[in-house]
Amino acid sequence: MTRVAVIGAGPSGLAMLRAFASAAEQGAEVPEVICFEKQDDWGGLWNYTWRTGVDEYGESVHGSMYRYLWSNGPKECLEFADYGFEEHFGKPIASYPPREVLWDYIKGRVDKSGVRDQIRFRTTVREVVYDATAGDGAGMFTVTSHDLDGGHTSSEKFDHVVVASGHFSVPNVPHYPGFEKFLGRILHAHDFRDAVEFAGRDILIVGASYSAEDIGSQCHKYGANRIYCTSRAGTMGYDWPDNWEELPILTHVDGNTVHFSDGQTRDVHAIILCTGYQHHFPYLPDDLRLETANRLWVSGLYKGVVWERNPKLFYLGMQDQYYTFNMFDAQAWYARDVLMGRIDLPSAEEMAADGAAWLAREEALETAYEEIDFQGDYTQVLVDETDYPDFNIPAVNQMFKDWKGHKKADIMGYRNLGFPSTLTGTVAPPHHTPWLDALDDSMATYLLDEAPEGGG
Ligand SMILES: Cc1cc2nc3c(=O)[nH]c(=O)nc-3n(C[C@H](O)[C@H](O)[C@H](O)COP(=O)(O)OP(=O)(O)OC[C@H]3O[C@@H](n4cnc5c(N)ncnc54)[C@H](O)[C@@H]3O)c2cc1C
Ligand SMILES: NC(=O)c1ccc[n+]([C@@H]2O[C@H](COP(=O)([O-])OP(=O)(O)OC[C@H]3O[C@@H](n4cnc5c(N)ncnc54)[C@H](OP(=O)(O)O)[C@@H]3O)[C@@H](O)[C@H]2O)c1
Repeated sequence: MTRVAVIGAGPSGLAMLRAFASAAEQGAEVPEVICFEKQDDWGGLWNYTWRTGVDEYGESVHGSMYRYLWSNGPKECLEFADYGFEEHFGKPIASYPPREVLWDYIKGRVDKSGVRDQIRFRTTVREVVYDATAGDGAGMFTVTSHDLDGGHTSSEKFDHVVVASGHFSVPNVPHYPGFEKFLGRILHAHDFRDAVEFAGRDILIVGASYSAEDIGSQCHKYGANRIYCTSRAGTMGYDWPDNWEELPILTHVDGNTVHFSDGQTRDVHAIILCTGYQHHFPYLPDDLRLETANRLWVSGLYKGVVWERNPKLFYLGMQDQYYTFNMFDAQAWYARDVLMGRIDLPSAEEMAADGAAWLAREEALETAYEEIDFQGDYTQVLVDETDYPDFNIPAVNQMFKDWKGHKKADIMGYRNLGFPSTLTGTVAPPHHTPWLDALDDSMATYLLDEAPEGGG
């Protein structure tokens, strides 16, 4: 029987398990699938940990999420096309759920599919090696994994490997002169856990993307005194609260004083590096390892999924993301159909030409709207080639564009608005408490129909 190794049980890896389960439900004979997951539960980044640095086994901590994190895009844009929010929660809920609520939703679908016993938890993949002569010349992978609880390492053979280990976990940590002697705390967004720590403090946020915007907003919400943002790319351009200031890129630090490229200075207690992440696959050899920046088109992957240099290897979720869960699904359905022989791959030259065309289009993108349409079109291609339910991608593109407008209009209030589900048409009700006042992010409080006494 064909054997498939899936590395990671986050939303992408779980999409892969769900894709096989879906085929099996329709009577197909599916391969044996084993999923390796280094954490003790599923959900990937959505499985919150208080830990930073290393875990109890000395493994690097995967989690980059923090307390009080709420979805930064409307849930209607990521809704699984085969398992809606209303089906899961039994009622319509607001559009920007906190982390715990989205984790529950992710778990709901795979619980229902009965795939948990395919996952080996607390098991880290240490090495993947391909041998073209193995399997009577068909070629096979040897996957070496470490059972962290049992403390032993073992190797097994697989026909296919699916890399779904994420790319927002290993931080990109730049150095600026004077960091060594800074008289406060310097941390990366990966290690940020609780905005309450910065109440009453003056902080510098480095970067101008989603982490910068959201960690700054969290710190404002939970009582930071002043928030300074610095970036190479110019301002984020939102109408920030009065205690928030955007500055050009820092040049160096002297004691507690940060110097910026236009000669201004500010004194701060902490510096939070919201400077992005690295695609990092320490378990893969050079010939199998994807190397890329965080971008919408990743070269070397046919249809964004198939490793062109060895099409028995697949990568899921490696692109920068407007689309998330439903795009990972479409990718997983595509990978499933290639490795089950339902989709024939073209020649290496045709795969390269197809990728080159996508890359050229990506490089010509000028606006966020164009980027959204690009990722929507890409997702549509995968949906069209598989039996993943055809959800309304033009409507999702439009919701992303509206979301952009809502943020521009009110960066602290955009999460109070609601969107319609493409599955049911139901417009999300407003949450009982405006986001800026909602200090309790627990699922129990979020799912209440009215604000609890004392505030939500
Ligand atoms: C701070 C933050 C907030 C975000 N917020 C949102 C949001 O609001 N909405 C949204 O749609 N997306 C959000 N995202 C994007 C996020 O990337 C996706 O939602 C999603 O988690 C990606 O799923 P994944 O399975 O590809 O990767 P991950 O969720 O990273 O899961 C990868 C899994 O692989 C496992 N793994 C890694 N290495 C190994 C190994 N060697 N052996 C075994 N297992 C391994 C990890 O333990 C993990 O469980 C956010 C990302 C970050 C960093
Ligand atoms: N749910 C939520 O609320 C939430 C919160 C946080 C993050 N997220 C998600 O997490 C993912 C990652 O987002 P991210 O913002 O961490 O990463 P990102 O989008 O890759 O952005 C990285 C940022 O770091 C900057 N940067 C990189 N190197 C730098 C350097 N040496 N000096 C100064 N700036 C530097 C980049 O600026 P340049 O343009 O100059 O390179 C860019 O602004 C996204 O998918 C996002 O949606 C979600």
